[in-house]
Amino acid sequence: MSTFLRPEQSPAWQALAQLAREHPLRLDALLTHPGRSQAMTHQAAGVTLDLSRQRVDPTIMAALLRLGDQAQLPTHVQRLFRAEPVNPTEGRPALHMALRGSDARSPEWGHDISAQVATELARFLDFAQQAYCGKWQGYMGVAVTDVVNIGIGGSDLGPRMATHALALPARGLSGQVRVHYVSNADADALGSTLAGLDPARTGFIVQSKTFTTQETLTIFASAKRWLLDGGCPHDQIARHWVAVTARPELARQHGFSPEQTFLFWDWVGGRYSVWSAIGLPLAMTIGPQAFREFLAGAREMDVHVLSAPPAQNLPMLMALVGVWNRNFLGATTLNIAPYSYALSQFVPFIQQLEMESNGKSVHLDGSRADIPTAPIVWGGLGIDGQHAYFQLIHQGTQIVPMDFIGVRQTRSALPLAQTHQKVVLQNLQAQAQALALGRDLGQTRAALLAEGLDASLVEALAPHRTYVGNNPSSILWLDEINPRTLGALIALYEHKVYAQAVIWGINPYDQWGVELGKTMVRQMDVSKDS
Ligand code: F6P
Repeated sequence: MSTFLRPEQSPAWQALAQLAREHPLRLDALLTHPGRSQAMTHQAAGVTLDLSRQRVDPTIMAALLRLGDQAQLPTHVQRLFRAEPVNPTEGRPALHMALRGSDARSPEWGHDISAQVATELARFLDFAQQAYCGKWQGYMGVAVTDVVNIGIGGSDLGPRMATHALALPARGLSGQVRVHYVSNADADALGSTLAGLDPARTGFIVQSKTFTTQETLTIFASAKRWLLDGGCPHDQIARHWVAVTARPELARQHGFSPEQTFLFWDWVGGRYSVWSAIGLPLAMTIGPQAFREFLAGAREMDVHVLSAPPAQNLPMLMALVGVWNRNFLGATTLNIAPYSYALSQFVPFIQQLEMESNGKSVHLDGSRADIPTAPIVWGGLGIDGQHAYFQLIHQGTQIVPMDFIGVRQTRSALPLAQTHQKVVLQNLQAQAQALALGRDLGQTRAALLAEGLDASLVEALAPHRTYVGNNPSSILWLDEINPRTLGALIALYEHKVYAQAVIWGINPYDQWGVELGKTMVRQMDVSKDS
């Protein structure tokens, strides 16, 4: 790859490095600029992105946009949608957008892909409908009421997160089955899930792209044993089992029926697969129509990333600001704080998406990266975090860029739901503001004196009670959580991850880092058996 330009060699990168050295910014000053909030707030597909609390001004923003321009961000986004081999180490494209009906096609085989996707979508949604309506029957001819999803990583985190978000009673979407997720090979994970379930009324989905994942196959064998011990005759067992995989021949060898085996393809990365049949447990829970809405929300974000100019393009702006924080302000982590109970599983999902994609230290041309790539992504429900680790963000020794996620409306039917909502949203805004503005020594002294503390105590306490502030954050606003907005939010992060990979010159679609440990565990197994 002789044309590869290392990111730090581009003039825009060097200009940004100089700006970071010579053009320090304070959020307390920036936030007084009239019109800043409006100018730095952008909207697409039901998501509003407020970047006003990021440590950027028009000069830095322009330099970041030049960086995107020099990295040919829009061209690379088109390459992604044109099915070019954006995953060169595995020699394939990354076409998860095709799963949601986006026009992601190469001239040679694009049409074929859309047809395959549509056929498989119809097949698995048809099965989802059966389960949703209580028509999936087990060996005794009674309806399956509980479905256990067995899978790990991308075969677990996406559907688990989305099911949690969309199956809340207040959404009114849930049908006749409860879905449980088991990913961990520790026997307690499966054991505690199966406790209280009736084998005659329990169905299982084994989700595995490769159908070779040791943890998944261990849980599968154990759950099968539970079903047989629970009275299911051998010749009826396939009725209880569904497989979702890119290796249907392996599912067949394990006894899955072709009718209850659903496919996806090697051009869908595990962490990008919630849109495929991997979304089956979600579709069983919320119904096929809502699942199609989920796809439509993501598709809307696809249209946006392809068509909006970079200066208004949400994924590109998020990516650029993230690069500024990581590479020029020296942030090592990104905290994601959803202020919405529905999004309590969002962080583990995004952790895999970002860290398995961009946790790389080798550029596309095979050379070692001398620049930091993906930050460590962490976080959890915002309002809970405030009473735990937010202390470090307010007064620790490093900057911790944050993505706050706020949901304007609640659908809860509790009589005091609006009071809850007010508490949640006011806390979000207070935290973002406190982290941006801080409180200096003088302000702290004045505040303590106003509290009635005597002068010597004020002097002793003031250093402990000041806040350096200037901590950057974005706020992502959704009007409400529904299949469409959730689909758009996930697609926003997917495209952000790709845009950052383009800027860093790395491949976001392979994950060789997870292989060494797998090889070692296989060797242990072999040596034990021999
Ligand atoms: O080990 C990592 C990984 O390969 C992920 O990339 C993937 O999502 C997960 O394991 C599960 O893999 P599979 O779907 O093939 O079981």
